Amino acid sequence: MAVDLLLGLQWGDEGKGKIVDVLTKHYDIIARFQGGPNAGHTLEFDGIKHVLHTIPSGIFHKNALNIVGNGVVIDPVIFKKELQALEKFNIDIKSKLLISRKAHLILPTHRLLDAASEASKGKAKIGSTLKGIGPTYMDKTGRNGMRVGDLELDNWKEKYRALADKHEAMIAFYDVEIQYDLKELEADFCDAVENLKKLTFIDSEEYLFQAQKAGKKILAEGAQGSLLDIDFGTYPYVTSSNTTAAGACTGLGVAPTHIGEVKGIFKAYCTRVGSGPFPTELFDEDGATMGRVGNEFGATTGRPRRCGWLDLVALKYAVQINGVTELMMMKADVLSGFKKVKVCTAYDYKGKRITHLPYNIEAENVTPIYTDLEGWGQDLTKMGSAKELPDTLKDYISFLEKELEVPITIVSVGPDRTQTIHR
Ligand code: IMP
Repeated sequence: MAVDLLLGLQWGDEGKGKIVDVLTKHYDIIARFQGGPNAGHTLEFDGIKHVLHTIPSGIFHKNALNIVGNGVVIDPVIFKKELQALEKFNIDIKSKLLISRKAHLILPTHRLLDAASEASKGKAKIGSTLKGIGPTYMDKTGRNGMRVGDLELDNWKEKYRALADKHEAMIAFYDVEIQYDLKELEADFCDAVENLKKLTFIDSEEYLFQAQKAGKKILAEGAQGSLLDIDFGTYPYVTSSNTTAAGACTGLGVAPTHIGEVKGIFKAYCTRVGSGPFPTELFDEDGATMGRVGNEFGATTGRPRRCGWLDLVALKYAVQINGVTELMMMKADVLSGFKKVKVCTAYDYKGKRITHLPYNIEAENVTPIYTDLEGWGQDLTKMGSAKELPDTLKDYISFLEKELEVPITIVSVGPDRTQTIHR
């Protein structure tokens, strides 16, 4: 059975958590393949809002197994807090949540290194979530990292010590003011590691291989967004993993020939949190309205998100890179009330009109060229079927489908599970 993928096509925060939750009833296994606690996947149902960081978004469904794949980086301290938040829901965590032995661990000193690196960059900072993501992936590719499987060894603390000591020397090298009490951080870490060790560790690539053979339906859940991909995003203002479709192969051990549908999620407008270029960013009342109505604040850091019109040049690029087979459009309800809705369909790039994403999209090189479409005034949040959608929104959807050459199969009209229109 092929493995389906679900990924964000913009700069993250597209609403992946909600859609995974909606789709989980069709799957046996939900598997996260990259990123870590920098993610904040928000789910809402029965009047409760849940934010997951590392745990896959299928966790609330009784019949689904959830796997944290080898491509994910885990902070035991944050993981423990996530598990504590789930305690009241009576989920059988030991059997429903499985962790890859090959997933790398975020040490307290990785977080400190992240902070030191950002502080040393001054104005050029990435705007990292400061969860230690970059330093942990650096240790992974530098072949120094600690993995979940190491915790099963008697000498894991020695390995930890050697790495943490090295990190301390590196923090000093940055020559910036970072306040910390490593003893306290380490006590929390060791306590959280003991908690993590109570969970089920697996060789996830083998597990998933056997599950595929047995005909299980698997959905790979991406984190962040395609424009934050380490290779294809707006480098260096990106995260440190492959957020695109190929990341699911390396992050779970699924062969490219076993990938099925690629479900791409995008918002009807764009947002970005942290630094980096954003050609369609709005600095006016329209941008402020999107932020206010869309409640655009980071689920992990609480930072306000930058807002702007939909960028079709960038979206097309993400569709291509990922081989998207179906699209899901989120938050069309936030644009209700805009008389005109703008879509960036080309860039003026150094005086030339182009329709592909160039190497450099900084404001000094790129000016967006917009197509105006009619807005929709109606409140969409109580609509339950595609028939009910206003004609101007139907036109907007048709326009996007024509441009992107991929069908939009879901239109989300609110944060709750029930506010989902299937087309
Ligand atoms: P890091 O992955 O925490 O190092 O952050 C690198 C960049 O990616 C920063 O601009 C973050 O704001 C952004 N970022 C990381 N994770 C997410 C996410 O889940 N949603 C949106 N932006 C993110």
